[in-house]
Amino acid sequence: MTTAPSPARMSGQPRPLPANPDGAPAVEVRDLRKRFGAVEALRGLSLTVPVGITYGLLGPNGAGKTTLIRALIGLIAPDAGEVRVLGVPMPDKAILAQIGYMTQAAALYEDLSVRQNVAFFAAMAGIRDPDAIDRSISLVSLSERARSPVNTLSGGMKQRASLACALAHRPRLLLLDEPTVGIDPQLRVQFWGHFRRLNAEGVTIVVSSHVMDEAERCDRLGFIRDGRILSEGSADELRQRASARTLEEAFLHFAES
Ligand SMILES: Nc1ncnc2c1ncn2[C@@H]1O[C@H](COP(=O)(O)OP(=O)(O)OP(=O)(O)O)[C@@H](O)[C@H]1O
Ligand SMILES: [Mg+2]
Repeated sequence: MTTAPSPARMSGQPRPLPANPDGAPAVEVRDLRKRFGAVEALRGLSLTVPVGITYGLLGPNGAGKTTLIRALIGLIAPDAGEVRVLGVPMPDKAILAQIGYMTQAAALYEDLSVRQNVAFFAAMAGIRDPDAIDRSISLVSLSERARSPVNTLSGGMKQRASLACALAHRPRLLLLDEPTVGIDPQLRVQFWGHFRRLNAEGVTIVVSSHVMDEAERCDRLGFIRDGRILSEGSADELRQRASARTLEEAFLHFAES
């Protein structure tokens, strides 16, 4: 059904990104708080993500990962604290166009085709280049289904279409909320290969995941529990801190300690 994209098509043409004027981190979050009624989803969360790395958000269900990601893009207004993306306080319309966001639940127009969805999200960020749209569809191996309405796709294909929507405008910051749920292992490996190439081009990725072999691939990890970062570092550092052999053991240690 689908064809694996060639490495050349996966990577597209690397392009230099304009440097941050003052070398600001990609993401700076300070003492972020958000309450939903009785639930305190974020309780003074602080985080810094340098440019060009993949930062993984780990943590149990309900820890606050999605809430944090939504605050980064300005979809929810925090009760307190500060969010800066590429040095600019959020929300900011110009910076918004530099962010790609893949939501945890697919947020696609079901009656529109894959291509129409990708074109729509690219246009929202001011991009109308048909090549950019085709490239991101090819990247997720959906070229053969580009004209299919989204409501005729399998679950994994919808995930792939969502990723294409997040990528088409070539964002400088990519926010991926559990991007590979339902994605088959072969394509998952290809996705991560592409994420690495994006990092090499200066794109920063913040990704939430419950998949430990994905967490292993991140440059830095933040373990979130009860709306705060409980521990942060490389996979090795988290393992050492938890006296654990595997990242899964470390996860259980932090989740239960
Ligand atoms: N819009 C909302 N209204 C009410 N409560 C909310 C809302 N969004 C999130 N919450 C609550 O905030 C807490 C954090 O939720 P969040 O979705 O950020 O968790 P998560 O870490 O992404 O979990 P998961 O791993 O299950 O995706 C949960 O208790 C959740 O029920
Ligand atoms: Mg979530």
